[in-house]
Amino acid sequence: SARRPLIAGNWKMNGRKADGLALVRALADWLAGEGAAHRDRFDMLVCPPATLIAPVIDALGGAPLDVGGQDCHAAENGAHTGDISAWMLKDLGATHVIVGHSERRTDHHEDDEQVRAKAAAALAAGLVPIICIGETEAERDAGQALAIVARQLNGSLPEGATGTNVVIAYEPVWAIGTGRTPTAQDVAEVHQRIRAEARGRIGDGADALRILYGGSVKPGNAAELMAIEDVDGALVGGASLKAADFQAIALGC
Ligand code: G3H
Repeated sequence: SARRPLIAGNWKMNGRKADGLALVRALADWLAGEGAAHRDRFDMLVCPPATLIAPVIDALGGAPLDVGGQDCHAAENGAHTGDISAWMLKDLGATHVIVGHSERRTDHHEDDEQVRAKAAAALAAGLVPIICIGETEAERDAGQALAIVARQLNGSLPEGATGTNVVIAYEPVWAIGTGRTPTAQDVAEVHQRIRAEARGRIGDGADALRILYGGSVKPGNAAELMAIEDVDGALVGGASLKAADFQAIALGC
């Protein structure tokens, strides 16, 4: 497709400074070496824990690899102890921020309205929000997967979204960290629905919208998943913590 895939790594709450720096240096070395020949096929992003964003950006030394946050507060500044604003991430040199990951929706009870406010803050700060949506296993079993992702997309997409200033990540909750993935047909069906819903909101800009798949993406299944119509990259958790695995996933697109 005309959409260049985005291979995004979500390190989640993993990594001491030495681990994060070793990982990002390995990726930078690969992008300058063996990976260079493939570099124009994909965009690459890592989302370290907030503690490592600045050291990771420093360690990159200009390597063609973007760095993002895993969450942001909806406000720019203020009395919100422990929170980090999109503007603070931007200030460090981040380009993206994940919002509405299912672990935030579960652990911190974030709903679509909060996710939309965070995504709006990201846009206002000049970051690309990666807006996560996805059904639980019970919702899929009840035949509600498409309805749930449509509702989440519509509830979480901020005003001013276009096909190029936001990214959507479809992550079925039951596929995250479980080693289980939906069938290619199920992934295709959901991604098609997401693009159709997005078209209702942003018009033909939806043709340029990148819709990532996330949930147990590994080197062994990446090529099959990335080949699916309307899949424009991956949001990778566990496998993004190993440079060789993350690189292999990028080569699968
Ligand atoms: O954000 C990433 C996803 O939650 C996927 O995690 O690749 O470990 O299943 P996973």
